[in-house]
Amino acid sequence: MAFVPKEWPRRLRSQEWYAGTSRDTIYHRGWLKNQGYPNDLFDGRPIIGILNTWSELTPCNGIHMKELAEKVKAGVWEAGGFPVEVPVFSASENTFRPTAMMFRNLAALAVEETIRGQPMDGCVLLVGCDKTTPSLMMGAASCDLPSIVVTGGPMLNGYYRGERVGSGTHLWKFSEAVKAGEMTAEEFLEAEASMSRSTGTCNTMGTASSMASMAEALGMALSGNAAIPAVDSRRRVMAQLSGRRIVQMVKDDLKPSDILTRQAFENAIRTNGAIGGSTNAVVHMLALAGRVGIDITLDDWDRCGRDVATIVNLMPSGKYLMEEFFYAGGLPVVLRRLGEAGQLHKDALTVSGGPIWDEVRDAANHNPDVILPLDKALTRQGGIAVLRGNLAPGGAVLKPSAASPHLLVHRGRAVVFEDIDDYKRQINDEALDIDETCVMVLKNCGPKGYPGMAEVGNMGLPPKVLRKGITDMVRISDARMSGTAYGTVVLHTSPEAAAGGPLAVVRTGDMIELDVPNLRLHLDISEAELASRLAAWTPTHERPASGYAWLHQQHVTGADTGADLDFLKGCRGAPVGKDAH
Ligand code: FES
Repeated sequence: MAFVPKEWPRRLRSQEWYAGTSRDTIYHRGWLKNQGYPNDLFDGRPIIGILNTWSELTPCNGIHMKELAEKVKAGVWEAGGFPVEVPVFSASENTFRPTAMMFRNLAALAVEETIRGQPMDGCVLLVGCDKTTPSLMMGAASCDLPSIVVTGGPMLNGYYRGERVGSGTHLWKFSEAVKAGEMTAEEFLEAEASMSRSTGTCNTMGTASSMASMAEALGMALSGNAAIPAVDSRRRVMAQLSGRRIVQMVKDDLKPSDILTRQAFENAIRTNGAIGGSTNAVVHMLALAGRVGIDITLDDWDRCGRDVATIVNLMPSGKYLMEEFFYAGGLPVVLRRLGEAGQLHKDALTVSGGPIWDEVRDAANHNPDVILPLDKALTRQGGIAVLRGNLAPGGAVLKPSAASPHLLVHRGRAVVFEDIDDYKRQINDEALDIDETCVMVLKNCGPKGYPGMAEVGNMGLPPKVLRKGITDMVRISDARMSGTAYGTVVLHTSPEAAAGGPLAVVRTGDMIELDVPNLRLHLDISEAELASRLAAWTPTHERPASGYAWLHQQHVTGADTGADLDFLKGCRGAPVGKDAH
């Protein structure tokens, strides 16, 4: 059903703070005027919160985000709104410990209350690094005020000795090459300088670029937003246009709940398959769907994504980087392809106020080596594979486009690491009984276990295996994997080990069967033996006694339902509440 805009003018929620001549109104208005605002700005025009995740310790959301905020403001002023920039919780994937993922929900909670408690009528979500995109969308969705996403954009291509260097992807590659004796430590240091040539997010189709693509495919950002490089002047234009657009969205009352429908999520799931997107998108999209009451499950990832071909030739699955994806035409080209293949809900509404198909139907592909024709797809079944079996009754995920074809059906002897410290203790030990046919199993790295579900699932291979020229082995864990990483890596195994899932009772020497075509993950022990081990299992790890880590561990849900905090699910709206004065 087509979206019907609300009539304008009407009284907005910000007027509960600023309209009238009461003592409280004068108090609110008078304080804001200390920044030099004339009286006529309080005439009922939309007040737009620009929620900025800029931080000098989130280098992906660098100083250019301040400049982008200024461009958003220009657009808001032009359209007759009143912009206010508000800093919000920012968590960098490359800095935050124990893992930025533990703080996605804290950030979402902070964002939600930042919006609800203050006089905003609409929001511009200025995001970039991996967790900033889902956390701001989750917080905004739980308030359901008109909101639009503007991403900071990816970095320029990295180059080292003439070769493209992908963020993250080459960190893993170079690190393994050093361990294998194929690269010197000095060369690794030299390569470091080539990895991050400009401000912006990872230049691969890692989690940041995947989530920017998810926002666009969901309809929460203007068309073309995802791929524009951070330093390209068109990124600033995008910010300004988004500033203009949010004012009209407030006037029309076009809210996240109008946009984030089941159709929108199905479009995003298929898009993730087409771009070879990050497995992290699975947990983030499940969590976001939970905020708006859309019942998206792992089965939807399997059903919708399975037959989508990966046509975006970007690292870590392919060859190029985000800069080239932008020059090729970016995400609109991919969405057009999905539409032509009958794999897009064309009527899904976007922040534009119209159907997504209107935005992408004429998108032109300027480089068929970057956005591939179907017969040259990286894989015909590019969606996330959702595996099940006695080792993952709640499900586990694997990214086929980043895996080694010869390992997709594999039976091997388990080599178990009880946690990440155990892994680090053992992995470089030449006496470790392991070869390339083994299955590496890492426990206690899930949402409760780490705590926070760190990106350690793509654990590096033992040096003695690397020295043979082997670059991939089957690895299984309850952890996540960086979107920039690759390999035959089974992730998000649910229930997690720290919650007493079957992963907790795998022993070194057990045989494990991985069968991706048949979506099966099996621990080859008898039912009775598995039941007896599970009955004898007791938690092995210390639990935080206080602080946010305690709150997180008490309330985080499994990866199979998005790893949100259980009490944050759902939409609570943005009632104006009581005045404190
Ligand atoms: Fe921040 Fe990749 S680490 S975008």
